[in-house]
Order: sequence, then C-alpha cells, then structure tokens
Amino acid sequence: MIVAALQWCGCQNTPTTKATTITNKDSNWWKSAVIYQLYPRSFKDSDGDGIGDLKGILSELDYLQSLGIDAIWLNPIYSSPNDDNGYDVSDYRAIMKDFGTMEDFDALLAAMHQRGLKLIMDIVVNHSSDEHDWFRQSRSSRNNPYRNYYHWWPAEKGKPPYRYSLFDINHDAWKYDSLTNAYYLHYFGVKQPDLNWENPKLRQEIYDMMEFWAQKGVDGFRLDAFQFAAKDTSWPHLPQGYEQQFAKHVAMKPAIHNYLREMNEQVLSKYGVMSVAEGAGNSFEDAHQLVDAARKELNMAYAFEAVDLAKSSGYNLLQFKRVFSTWDSAFAKEGWLSIFLANHDNARMVTRFASDAPEHNPYAATMLHTFLLSMRGTPYCYYGDELGMTNPGFNSITDYRDKPALNDYQYQLKQGKKAATILTEMRFSCRDNGRTPMQWNTSANAGFTTGTPWIAVNKNYTTLNVAAQQKDSTSCLTYFKKMVALRKREPALVHGSYTLVDANNQQVYAYTRSWKDKKVLVLLNFSGKQATVQTGYQLSTATPLLYNYATPPSATLRPYEAVVYALQTP
Ligand code: GLC
Repeated sequence: MIVAALQWCGCQNTPTTKATTITNKDSNWWKSAVIYQLYPRSFKDSDGDGIGDLKGILSELDYLQSLGIDAIWLNPIYSSPNDDNGYDVSDYRAIMKDFGTMEDFDALLAAMHQRGLKLIMDIVVNHSSDEHDWFRQSRSSRNNPYRNYYHWWPAEKGKPPYRYSLFDINHDAWKYDSLTNAYYLHYFGVKQPDLNWENPKLRQEIYDMMEFWAQKGVDGFRLDAFQFAAKDTSWPHLPQGYEQQFAKHVAMKPAIHNYLREMNEQVLSKYGVMSVAEGAGNSFEDAHQLVDAARKELNMAYAFEAVDLAKSSGYNLLQFKRVFSTWDSAFAKEGWLSIFLANHDNARMVTRFASDAPEHNPYAATMLHTFLLSMRGTPYCYYGDELGMTNPGFNSITDYRDKPALNDYQYQLKQGKKAATILTEMRFSCRDNGRTPMQWNTSANAGFTTGTPWIAVNKNYTTLNVAAQQKDSTSCLTYFKKMVALRKREPALVHGSYTLVDANNQQVYAYTRSWKDKKVLVLLNFSGKQATVQTGYQLSTATPLLYNYATPPSATLRPYEAVVYALQTP
C-alpha cells in the first residue's frame, strides 16, 4: 500500500567563500514553538485558478496569527511540473507559477516576520524533478558534467539489482533511458530521479541553494525524505520482499551523517536556522544520531511510528501509549522530538485517531489537540485540524488527485483487487483526504476559491468552517486557541518530565508533566464511551486548567473528554 509505504514513510569540506551572516535568533526557539503546517495548494486561492497561492496565505495572516502559533512550515513552493505536488522541484530558486512570484514570497516573509511568525521551508533534495536542468543535462550524454548528479547504471552491465520504488506504477525504481542506454534511480516517482549525494559538486549546489533561502531570512528547513539521500552505491542485491521493511534496508546509510554535518557547518549553524528531518531512521539510536546537539547535525526528529498506527481496522490505544511513552523516555535527557498525528502524507487525524461522527464533534478533535499540545516535544498542527476537518469520503477514483495513489490504484487492480475494496481503503487512508481545501465559510467552495478547486471541497464545509467557529465559544477552533495559549503559559507542558498514569487503561490516556514545583495531569478519553481512570491523585483538590466540554469535568469522563488539571504539589 502506498500509504503504508509512505511512512518511512567521506565527504569533502568545500570551503565557502560567501560572507558569513549569522543572525541573532534565539537558537532554541523551536523547542517551545507551536508549528502550523500549511499546504499552500489548499489553503487560500487569491486569483481564482482553483489553486491556493502565496497571496492567499498573505491575506490570511490575521487568522494565522490569531491561532497563537509561532511558525509555519510551508510544503514546497518551488517551480515544479507538479507530478508530486511540488515534491518534484525543477528550479529550487524560483516560485511555482501556480503559487505566485518571488516578490509575493518576499512580501509574505516580511509580513510574517512583522507579526512575529517564523517560516520553515521544505527542502526536497533526495531527488529533483526530471525537468530540472541538472537532470536534462545529466541524461543528455554519459560525458555531460552533470552526469554524476544522479545515479545511473549502464545497460551493458545488464539489469541493475532490483530496487523498490514507493511511487512507480510498477514499483520499479530503475527507469531505462534509451538516450544513453542506461537506467536511472528513482525511489519515488519516475519523474523524481534521486540525486547523487556522493558528488561534492551536487552537495555544494544544494548548500548554496539553502543559503539563498537562509539569506532571505527563512527561519527553518524541513528536510524531505533525507534519510534516503545517502546510498550504498555498490548496489548490493537486497533480499526478496525487502520493500516490506523499505527503510530498514535503504535509509540511514552511514554517509548521511557526513552530509548533515557538512550542511550544518555551511548553512544551518551559520544562519541559525532550525532543522527537522522527515523520518527518524529505524531506531532511537538512529534518531539520536540525527539530532543530539553535540553531533551538530539537525535539531528535531520526526518519527513515524505513532502516526503509522492508525489503520482502517482501528488501532490499539495501549500500543499508542507505548509508542509515545517509549519515545519520550528515549529522548528525556538528550535530543528533541516532533509531536504530530497528521500531515500532508496522511488522512485527517480526527478520522484516523478519534471519530469524525457528527455527534463527537468537536470533542474528538479537541481531545486530540489537548494531547498534541500537552506532550513533550514540538507540536505540529496540520492546516484545518484546528477546525476538526475530516476525511471527505470521496466515492469515485476520479475525485482523487494524488499521482502515487492513482498509480497504486492501477497497480492493485492489476494484482486482482476489486475497485470497491481499494476505494474503501482509500476513503480512510489516502493522503488526498488530508489535502482538501481549507474551509473558510459557507460561500461557494468554502471561500477557498472563486474558481474550480483543484480537488473537491469536503461537503461538510457548510457547518464546519472558520467563520462559524470563530463566532462560537465552544468550537474546536476556540478550544485550539485556548490550548495553544495554555501551553504558552505553562512551562510544565513544554519542558516538564512525562509520566504515564493508569498505563493499562484501554480507553483513557493519562499522564503528568512535572516542572519545578508544578505538576499538570492530563486526562484524555480516547473512546466514544464514558470512561473512568485511576490516577492516584485527589482530583477534588486539583484545579482544572482547561476542559473540552461546556460543563466542568467529574470523576467519569464523557466520550472524548479531555481535561488538563493543575495538581496540588506538596
Ligand atoms: C516526502 C513527502 C511526500 C513526498 C515524498 C517525495 O515523504 O512528505 O509528500 O511525496 O517525500 O518527495
């Protein structure tokens, strides 16, 4: 399955001749920040072409600021033929036409900074687009100076050892190119050839490009699919079926650390920009090696183990608690984690991890926000989740836009699966479910565009939208803002140590966060039924700091009820 597969998911020190521009930023701001992930294609369209754009984002900065968030991670906005919605970059220094111009970008960045909002750019450098000039040159002849910017296998050596492609229609990562009688490698789509990080010239181009954005003043970088950048280019044969454990076999090859240290020295530390990897390798140790401060590589890990748990058949809360608890304890002393339950590669969090049934609105989504905003690590809110946006329930394959998902649909049909069965699974897990337009108001297309949206708007926009929720003191949006504000006021929620409470409770996730003389207790009913919890604390003497029902909590938790208590400490 695409969705399952998607959850992965000695270098030369070339001296830089550029002027050193170290900006004076609080170097650890990202630890106490709340990050908002914004999918530009689906946020707000300013020119009626049905595609969100930078001017659209600019026009909604009041809204974004009102959330209380600190930083915005923008999915890729570079020139791209859009085979993978911008994750196939054809020019890293230009803005995608659909999204606007470089002037629009500069205006957006300046306006964000004026409001104290930081910007995190998505850096897609495991691969480029096949329409990037580097690739055009590379494929033109075996002697071209750009040939070694990519991985080629000369066909006279026979077929290259099998490599699995996550997005290819036949899952074959080697594409034969008759022009030079050779195969090129693409772990993702056929139009996303993998860059050759062993080539110091390529690496320097990437660092220069990152410097270009750092010099503009961006505050952080998210490194897309970077755990695959270093490769074993002796191309050993891999065991049959290795794709079931794709990352174990092809991610985190040792040279990745050389590349990251080089990148850190040349760009990240020089400009004081924050950095987050996509993925965290295959173990706690891998994750530590990416982000422990003394290693001078990246700042924050982004592990998939938890977000991968939700399946159409459900998930087990005890396992969910185990995953978060073990990651927390592995990072209690050193390193830093991202906390998230959704992103552009996943369906909507409320559908996957709680319930999108109308009777559970807004409790299910506000319970999940209470969770995300009360854990240790940097919380990420995916656009629309602050409203409790749900999967749209698409009925036809023609509703979907994601090319890898459409490829996978064809692949599964070829394997003999029934269309209806594939569609049922897609309705739950396809990543397009998390990419429908932002629901602003009750006007046509939810106020996202005056044109035809590139992907259909979720029909529930008539009741679930920003305008309605802004007016409603009991809405998901209002609660989200309160929970962000609580995290900002309560250092225990950012820095406090985490202790699981009533570990074997099958309905309730309960834990404390302790910091100095403060102790906060969080109770989360992850079920649609009433629940009780054995905390061992005297709740009658505790102060509820925030709860997601209109009336105060009692000993029994209501469906999807969430409560944050301040405990009396001796
Ligand atoms: C990352 C992105 C995903 C993209 C893939 C290829 O996993 O998050 O959206 O399709 O890389 O770039």
